[in-house]
Amino acid sequence: MKILLLGSGGREHALALKLKASAAAVELVSAPGSDALAELGHRVALDQENPAMVAAWCAENRPDLLVVGPEVPLVAGVADAVRALGIPVFGHDAATARLEGSKAFAKEFMQGHGIPCAASHTVTELAEGEALVRTWPYSYPIVLKADGLAAGKGVVLASDETEALATFRAFMAGQFGEGSKTVVFEEPLVGMELSLHVLVDVDAEHAAYALLPACQDHKRIFEDDQGPNTGGMGAFGPIPFLRAEDIQLMRTELVEPTVRGLQQDGLEARGVLFLGVMWTASGPKLLEYNVRFGDPETQVLMQLLDEDLGALLLEVAEGRLIPRDLKVKPHTAIAVVLAAEDYPEGAKKDVPISIGTPAITVIHAGTREQNGQWLTNGGRVLNLATSAPDLAAARAAIEAALPEVGWPGMQVRRDIGLKALRHAQAGKTVRDPW
Ligand code: AMP
Ligand code: GLY
Repeated sequence: MKILLLGSGGREHALALKLKASAAAVELVSAPGSDALAELGHRVALDQENPAMVAAWCAENRPDLLVVGPEVPLVAGVADAVRALGIPVFGHDAATARLEGSKAFAKEFMQGHGIPCAASHTVTELAEGEALVRTWPYSYPIVLKADGLAAGKGVVLASDETEALATFRAFMAGQFGEGSKTVVFEEPLVGMELSLHVLVDVDAEHAAYALLPACQDHKRIFEDDQGPNTGGMGAFGPIPFLRAEDIQLMRTELVEPTVRGLQQDGLEARGVLFLGVMWTASGPKLLEYNVRFGDPETQVLMQLLDEDLGALLLEVAEGRLIPRDLKVKPHTAIAVVLAAEDYPEGAKKDVPISIGTPAITVIHAGTREQNGQWLTNGGRVLNLATSAPDLAAARAAIEAALPEVGWPGMQVRRDIGLKALRHAQAGKTVRDPW
């Protein structure tokens, strides 16, 4: 099976490692790829955000499956262009990708389909937004979201009126282009955040989904959730104190109305939806949709999934997903990010990395190779991933591997999963304060 994989980061390396373990021999081509991905197949220099260019390559090379990693190609219409050639694509078309590409569209969708979420106001006029800030009817912080994609920087939790006004005016002045001239204001939700991934296969005739284990990411750079936000410093799953009935509640409140809503609105879906969920005092609420796999959540999910990934993604891409409980190992998996010096403000590049022979999986997120030496080449550089019978054992396996891997200036959070572990050990549930 020839597979073209779009992307270049840790998520794609984890997907690629799992695809290579598929029963059918997989010929993997990555674009733009990375040196680590090139070791698993070969790379082609395609602009993944250019639908015509990706489609032209596919028309000539006829892959059996296109797997799209990041959201930007999906929003740009890459899946539409390749699907039009009759080639199966794991990845949503541009219309469905708006669930991530437009926060205002996502809120309309949630509210239109009765999906519990934060109260919100979508604003397109300067005076209207300034008046809203001055008469803010909810508690602080004021959550401001630039409508369009903003590389993870379009959500600001403003702690006072001054910060909210400054943020709003910067958005309206085009901080993130035209896409930030529409701003969604939201009430703040308080609780425990989790990442819920669901494979979805929806068209006018059928609507199928398959849920993956709930994970938890750690977004702040420093331990104890201190410091600036990052793309994610480590994740684990499943969450030990989430019970079957809690998962069931998220199915009925969030997942099923989403799947039904897609069909009612005439949207097709052939890929994954990653629901950002806040479990509040009044139950689970939807923060946002992502139309792609999370990073580093994917690194966790690929450790847990006990299915043939190539066959599974093709099943979705060809519109024949059988709704079911996916097979997962009875384990807890963890992925810890090793980040570059200066991340997230910058990333110190070209620092030589030592990778010994740790007894865990080393995933490349931002590296390059020069004369047989791996060098740092991005903010999130490597991920250490493993699974074990429980969260404590998984954490211990990462701790044991850490001395083997590193470089001067490396940043790592040693507390991935620790808060959840303590919550579970104290006998608390998701209904107890987080
Ligand atoms: P992003 O992934 O960049 O869209 O950022 C979204 C993040 O902002 C979420 O993961 C939450 O941590 C936070 N967030 C978004 N909406 C809210 C909200 N209404 N209340 C509290 N936190 C929020
Ligand atoms: N880990 C969060 C994300 O991928 O958006």
